[in-house]
Amino acid sequence: MARSRPGGLAASLLVLLCLVASAAAAATPGVGLVGVDGTQFVVGGGKTVYFSGFNAYWLMLVASDPPRRGQVVAAFRQAAGHGLNLARTWAFSDGGDTPLQSAPGVYDEAMFQGLDFAIAEARRHGIYLLLCLTNNFHDFGGKRQYVAWAREAGHHLATADDFFNSTVVKGYYKNHVKTVLTRVNTVTGVAYRDDPTILGWELMNEPRCDADPTGAMVQAWVEEMAPYVKSIDGDHLVTAGLEGFYGDGAHESKDLNPWGIYYGTNFVETHRAHGVDFATIHLYPDVWLWGSGAAAQLAFFRNWTRSHARDTELYLGKPLLVTEYGKFLWDGVANRTQRDRFLGQVLDSIYASAAGGGPLVGGAFWQLLDPGMDTLRDGYEIILPEDQRAATIIGNHSRQLAELNGQDVEAVRRRRRRRRGAHRKVHVGSSSGRSRSSSDTPRLHALLVRFISLFRSISSLFSPAASRP
Ligand SMILES: *[C@@H]1O[C@H](CO)[C@@H](O)[C@H](O)[C@H]1NC(C)=O
Ligand SMILES: *[C@@H]1O[C@H](CO)[C@@H](O)[C@H](O)[C@H]1NC(C)=O
Ligand SMILES: *[C@@H]1O[C@H](CO)[C@@H](O)[C@H](O)[C@H]1NC(C)=O
Ligand SMILES: *[C@@H]1O[C@H](CO)[C@@H](O)[C@H](O)[C@H]1NC(C)=O
Repeated sequence: MARSRPGGLAASLLVLLCLVASAAAAATPGVGLVGVDGTQFVVGGGKTVYFSGFNAYWLMLVASDPPRRGQVVAAFRQAAGHGLNLARTWAFSDGGDTPLQSAPGVYDEAMFQGLDFAIAEARRHGIYLLLCLTNNFHDFGGKRQYVAWAREAGHHLATADDFFNSTVVKGYYKNHVKTVLTRVNTVTGVAYRDDPTILGWELMNEPRCDADPTGAMVQAWVEEMAPYVKSIDGDHLVTAGLEGFYGDGAHESKDLNPWGIYYGTNFVETHRAHGVDFATIHLYPDVWLWGSGAAAQLAFFRNWTRSHARDTELYLGKPLLVTEYGKFLWDGVANRTQRDRFLGQVLDSIYASAAGGGPLVGGAFWQLLDPGMDTLRDGYEIILPEDQRAATIIGNHSRQLAELNGQDVEAVRRRRRRRRGAHRKVHVGSSSGRSRSSSDTPRLHALLVRFISLFRSISSLFSPAASRP
């Protein structure tokens, strides 16, 4: 656009004006800075907005190679065509072959321009972005890479979980946060922290901590990092990136965790941290309950979403998103019919909550691919043009959900209170009856967590992208 030939002060000013104007024009009507009001996301001064979303961790990676940018454009076009309005993606690639950050504080400009391009395309297609800042797992670096950097600098760190408490590593991470948030997009000219296309920042993909199963270590880290993000970008929303595992704190339902064990996080307690604006869960009943039957997996799914929605409303008063869910297509284990049923069940539960004014107000399936991206297939991919039935289910859901957008948040709240008042009258006296076993041996938990991590690593060998075990 008008960015190519600056010359003299007047021309620069003109360029600046055009940039501001084009930035404003590029923002599709539905895309304004998203805020939070109670359990609802709001936009444009108190109007509700709901999210029908997808994961595409690969946007920056693919867009960093200009000849492949058409795939990013196609993905956004297909997504927008099916009413999707949220993409969750990686704003990190720590070390490795395709680094955004090749060493602490050293950035690859081509990768950054890939992220610039992805953000600009999201904006053009009216799709919000949830940008994740690092990984718990070692795909694209993550906490293990950060700890390795600190060791290379001569610091003695015991395990990858020292990521959460090492002063040196926390310094590296904060520098990454600052670098990304203050980045000025080379396509739009808008700083990331000023761009309403961005729904918010996720501190880490799926924080877990074997070193401290009770969740205290992750808790302290989130309590430090969420306010740090806010100190640089006070406008965007922040979330921790949790999968929803319950921990040791008050109001936690550890018995609902897969295998009933600790993963080093507290769903309620951590989402209460200052600076955390909304809660998240992930949902992989097939992998989490590996070997169990369809009925058990369905029961788990129902309990998982219900209990988190209940706790979010009761203890947090914030919105809740299912930021990852999926079903692995594997010969003899699950076929598309079963996958589509799962998809429908998740989307129906989101819609039911949203329509009833509940806190579960959106989700993002794992993961969207374009046709011809075979090397990124991981068994979870949904390729909209090649998967008519999934595309119909998703498109249908997006349209239904979009009809709920634009309500006055006060009216939604009043309706919810009336509904719950009536509900309480009917159920008065019934107790929630959650129990908690007190004979947990942390050592056994840690062992089981390791076993499951190992299982995830092994199963990721079957997926070429290895980003989603
Ligand atoms: C971080 O936590 C680990 C595991 O609990 C511990 O060994 C280490 O000493 C802690 N480091 C700091 C700096 O507190
Ligand atoms: C779901 O919750 C019910 C009632 O709280 C419990 O009896 C059942 O075991 C739970 N199922 C799963 C799979 O967690
Ligand atoms: C998918 O698997 C289920 C359960 O094994 C089976 O009943 C169904 O016929 C399969 N559908 C297709 C299209 O293969
Ligand atoms: C689309 O949504 C409507 C309303 O809930 C439902 O009746 C219909 O069966 C859905 N169609 C598909 C293909 O999911």
